[in-house]
Amino acid sequence: MATERTFSIIKPDATERNLTGAINAVIEKAGLRIVAQKRVLMNRREAETFYAVHKERPFFGELVDFMISGPVVVQVLEGDNAVVRYREVMGATNPESAAEGTIRKLYAKSIGENSVHGSDSQDNAKIEIAQFFAGNEIVG
Ligand code: TYD
Repeated sequence: MATERTFSIIKPDATERNLTGAINAVIEKAGLRIVAQKRVLMNRREAETFYAVHKERPFFGELVDFMISGPVVVQVLEGDNAVVRYREVMGATNPESAAEGTIRKLYAKSIGENSVHGSDSQDNAKIEIAQFFAGNEIVG
């Protein structure tokens, strides 16, 4: 399997409940390495750019409001098959459908306040990483 990188966000509902360390423990236990990490407050324009693919969806406004409602922790994760692996570790978008042991099953409050984001493809991972990190901030 190829070593690759994916982009992760620990969302405001999780930072608010002091769950950064607990979520990082699940990530690391799953064999993914946190090779970059910083805590930031996204502004509206950054959140709208990040979720632009969803701009016609009915939940877009709420999603942007939520993502700027408090600090987030943006991360680059590295490992075998990292994109697919992290999607498995996160669990389904709706925590009611998420598998046991996944981050969303353990910690998400609702489909909107669902604790984490992970890239859905290698191409999007590259775009998302570049939105938040300079090359020299990622140390593999
Ligand atoms: P999506 O890309 O479908 O899910 P995922 O985060 O699992 O890749 O949706 C992006 C985010 O939009 C999702 O994490 C939470 C929010 N969202 C809602 O608030 N309501 C919804 O019905 C959906 C599908 C998503």
